[in-house]
Amino acid sequence: MRSNNLFRNRRDFLRTSAVTLAAGALPSSLFPSKENPANTYFAPPTKPHRIILDTDPGVDDAIAIFLALRSPELHVEAVTPVCGNVPLSLTLPNALRLVEIAGRADIPVAAGAATPLVRRLVTAKYAHGSNGLGGVDFAEPKLKPVPETATELIRRIVRANPGEISIVAVGPLTNVATVLKSDPTIAPLIKSIVIMGGSLSGGNITPAAEFNFYVDPEAARIVFDSGIPLTMVGLDVTRKVLIRDEQVRALEAAQNPVSQAAGKILRANFDRLHKTSNAVDFAMHDPLTVAQLIEPSVVTLKDFFVEIETTGELTAGQSLGYAHGPVRRSPPLETGQPAAESPEPEFKPNAKVAVEVDPDKFFRLLLARLASPA
Ligand code: RIB
Ligand code: CA
Repeated sequence: MRSNNLFRNRRDFLRTSAVTLAAGALPSSLFPSKENPANTYFAPPTKPHRIILDTDPGVDDAIAIFLALRSPELHVEAVTPVCGNVPLSLTLPNALRLVEIAGRADIPVAAGAATPLVRRLVTAKYAHGSNGLGGVDFAEPKLKPVPETATELIRRIVRANPGEISIVAVGPLTNVATVLKSDPTIAPLIKSIVIMGGSLSGGNITPAAEFNFYVDPEAARIVFDSGIPLTMVGLDVTRKVLIRDEQVRALEAAQNPVSQAAGKILRANFDRLHKTSNAVDFAMHDPLTVAQLIEPSVVTLKDFFVEIETTGELTAGQSLGYAHGPVRRSPPLETGQPAAESPEPEFKPNAKVAVEVDPDKFFRLLLARLASPA
């Protein structure tokens, strides 16, 4: 198995971190300290989580990809770009660039969906810049995508490793839903799906819907109806991990290609957002989702039954979470008296939803991984 361990073991990681600290490149508060001994989340991985990263890079996607590639707790089997923040014609080369910058040309990148399942694509260029990376002009990637489509690659890897592969989906769920539609018996072979998406406390592109679910509500519904173990990291917690200028400066100060690229992308996006809005921070939606697999204690999870609105003229993409039954639909469009009483069906949660977050712990992990010298 390809070594994905950036650090051979905890001692090596701490040595390199100490070097960084000694170099004064980073404020000590960003590193594990006696209150937060390194072993709270730098213990050597027992067995890395084997993941496929489905993504629409995307500024925060870029940070998430870097975090995943520099964390020994994860073994990235593939990266599968999807349309979302910007069209696939940009998310694909962006994914290739980011994997190349991280020095991981060994990881297959396969092109995914160029449109949502049944809707017109709506992008978020306003938030991610015209090229999806804050407008930063990186060189054309030398790395080429593999000939397989994202769907073919995901299906091949999952079927070759039944029960071993988790999908980390940080963009619209079109690729994942296409895998489930094209291979109706594959769902039980997927270990889990960790999703950046949804919200139980209001949306970010409409008052009802979070962007990833808004772009492809039908795909989100297919995934939440799949019976696969789901973890939903939604706006409820990602809104609380806003990267600040001091942290961007810490990335810019660190001397490695990943922190330099991350610093450039975040700085450019900050500058752009400052010009166009009074935004002073940027939520690390996708990196928190990846961090949840690396160090589960960065969030608190709670069981919910989550349903996705797909017919709403104003609310498509909304995620409704029930902590307990009864689960209700809107009243049927037929005038009449109440229907006859019927026994309430058993309440069955379908997702673990992140309801609380430890922002300090998350940012210490993120900075330590991206800003270490290796
Ligand atoms: O709503 C936030 C999500 O939408 C993030 O994944 C961000 O990258 C955008 O895709
Ligand atoms: Ca994303």
